[in-house]
Amino acid sequence: MPDIGEILSRELGSDRVIRADSDRLADYGRDESSLEGFLPDCAVLCRSREEIAWVLRIAAERRVPVTPRGAGSGKTGGCLPVAGGIVLSTERMSELVDIDSRDLVAVAQPGVITGQLQSAVEDERLFYPPDPASLGVCSIGGNVATGAGGPRAFRYGVTRDYVLGLEVVLMGGEILRIGRRTAKGVTGYDLVAGFVGSEGTFGVITEIVVKLLPLPAGVSTLLAVFPTMEAASAAVDAIIHRGFWPRTLEIADRTAVDHVRPYSHYRFPTSTGAILLVELDGDPDGLQSAALRVGQLCEDAGAAEVVVAKGSADRRDLWQARRMISSSLRRAHRHKESEDICVPRGAIAEMIRRIDRLAARFDMPFATYGHAGDGNLHVNVLIDGDRDDPAVAERVEAALSALFRDTIELGGTLSGEHGIGLSKKRFMPLEQSARVLQWQRQWKRMWDPLELLNPGKVLPAQPAGCRE
Ligand code: LAC
Ligand code: ZN
Repeated sequence: MPDIGEILSRELGSDRVIRADSDRLADYGRDESSLEGFLPDCAVLCRSREEIAWVLRIAAERRVPVTPRGAGSGKTGGCLPVAGGIVLSTERMSELVDIDSRDLVAVAQPGVITGQLQSAVEDERLFYPPDPASLGVCSIGGNVATGAGGPRAFRYGVTRDYVLGLEVVLMGGEILRIGRRTAKGVTGYDLVAGFVGSEGTFGVITEIVVKLLPLPAGVSTLLAVFPTMEAASAAVDAIIHRGFWPRTLEIADRTAVDHVRPYSHYRFPTSTGAILLVELDGDPDGLQSAALRVGQLCEDAGAAEVVVAKGSADRRDLWQARRMISSSLRRAHRHKESEDICVPRGAIAEMIRRIDRLAARFDMPFATYGHAGDGNLHVNVLIDGDRDDPAVAERVEAALSALFRDTIELGGTLSGEHGIGLSKKRFMPLEQSARVLQWQRQWKRMWDPLELLNPGKVLPAQPAGCRE
């Protein structure tokens, strides 16, 4: 009996199916999390909805698990093929189908790189705001699957707020359109909202309709350097309470800044205890004075230095540094556990205090940075020991568990923007009740009754003896 790779390869051609004899197959079993990879039986690079439908039909008939994959830049193991089978990559479906400046929508295939979608619409004076830090490499399909966020979410919201309609293929091969193309619409239940963030467990996305905005005419970016995270978070409060609505309010602590310094074009002062990267947009006439007033608020909160970017080169340098924080932490340590807790805005300062206490209690270096305006903090536990050493593993697990308990105690949530994937599903019961988890398992089965699509993700296994 031919294996599944051979069946797919015969139909689609050997250049489109990566099989066990290729070194490249391992790349399709990993992502940007610190989890070990899993080797699938094969990876298939589909080029059309019809091909995807065919693969999902054959896989359902043969009961072969399928793990959809975008650009592989996820941080929670959401696209790891834990049950083997087929990895279905949408990287070759990268056509930007339409930019409609009258309807204010763009239509994209899932493999379009998010940064390229942004530049293409900006060429038409339009704006697609969601900007994951990985926007140069991540794809819009993966952003929809995870419900990705980014720095601009403070003012403009996350991917979910921009997806109007989707074309998806279900396990078994049925092609389905959900949602709409209109600015408004309340016809029936909101399946699109449920699909966004379903992490490839409901269906494979083949086309995405996103809402666009007019491009803001001006942008002003400033960097404030503080002695402490406490002072930086006080500045965040002051900026919001004075009625400013920047598009980003990004924070990073001393450890994060120290790690990015060697790669940064911008020279951070060595005394930096924390930074705030603030970006305002809107009418160019009012922007300069708004930036000055925001800078003054930062100084009032204790900033030792405030630098306003002089032009697009300065702005690029500041963002280059910010976007490299995650990869610079990863390069410097054997492992890192990178979390993306989110707490109510009013609890940011208390959460930061608790993170400091956790680092001291577990005697491990933490680096914290992220989207302060949203209360979405990337807490990174930096590990240089051997994670396979049970003593190290136990300490890391205890630190993560304590971090999530503190987060939830303050009214927060496990994941602001990266999703749950594989790495956090065991913590789901800390936040959600047995009933809420049970409903989600039933919902998953409605989309995928055979439970073959991206198995083992998001939801923890059903407790023994529990009937549904
Ligand atoms: C960031 C990614 C890790 O904000 O979400 O850098
Ligand atoms: Zn982030």
